[in-house]
Amino acid sequence: MNWPTELIGQKMRRNLVVGNWKMHGNMQSNQLLLNRLIKGLSGFKNADYVVCVPSPYLFQARLLLENTNIAWGGQNVNQHEQGAFTGAVAANMLTDLGCTYVILGHSERRNLFYENNLTAAARFDAAIKAGLTPIMCVGETVAERDAGLTEVIVAGQMDAVLASLGDKEFAKAMELNMVFAYEPVWAIGSGKTASPEQAQSVHQFIRHRIARRNAEAASKVRIIYGGSVKAANAEELFTMPDVDGGLIGGASLNADEFEAICQVANSLQASTCLAE
Ligand code: PGA
Repeated sequence: MNWPTELIGQKMRRNLVVGNWKMHGNMQSNQLLLNRLIKGLSGFKNADYVVCVPSPYLFQARLLLENTNIAWGGQNVNQHEQGAFTGAVAANMLTDLGCTYVILGHSERRNLFYENNLTAAARFDAAIKAGLTPIMCVGETVAERDAGLTEVIVAGQMDAVLASLGDKEFAKAMELNMVFAYEPVWAIGSGKTASPEQAQSVHQFIRHRIARRNAEAASKVRIIYGGSVKAANAEELFTMPDVDGGLIGGASLNADEFEAICQVANSLQASTCLAE
């Protein structure tokens, strides 16, 4: 489906690359990886870079990444501010550790830990209240795609979040530069990347969904793609008009791969978009 380009706006958005380490790493391997990235990414001024590390290592990330051009964030947050919620992490705990971003609604959280659209929306609200930039993940399973339901599923996931935000919360989310991530479940960790055209089509749909609420916001919101992104396919994906970078799982654990992906985001930005 093609939306009028004036609704979509020019690609003036700064690219964003987020590493999602999932449940990987230890003190020693993290230190090696982060030190490599600090050095490798230091000259990349045209895009934004984030690593979302397991909670026990956020303090280590803070120690190493403070005063670099790499931000750090959490992989989830609980919707409650505090209390008897064994095993949960509150949004203020993330900000206390210097986090500026948090991944929400990842399909692994939805599928393995029974999270759903409602809890994702509640977590989104908790994140913005604490001043964290939410990276809200949406995406369909292969069965849903095969049944032609991609847009229905993604619309449901988007609308659950958008409908839960009052005007004040929506403005706050914009102030915090909220991010959406399109992650087709069938592409995550599978080595099967969505084609640039498949990604573009859903990204455009997501942007239009936001435009129904606020057209100006829609042209500013960054929508990143996740699902088997690697150095070899980053460029074809990131050049699509509505793809503003990537959410990188497996390849974010490899310093060379992650650096190469960040380099693509950085150099595309320099050539096609206004750098900040
Ligand atoms: P992948 O994971 O890059 O390993 O496919 C992406 C994600 O789950 O965020």
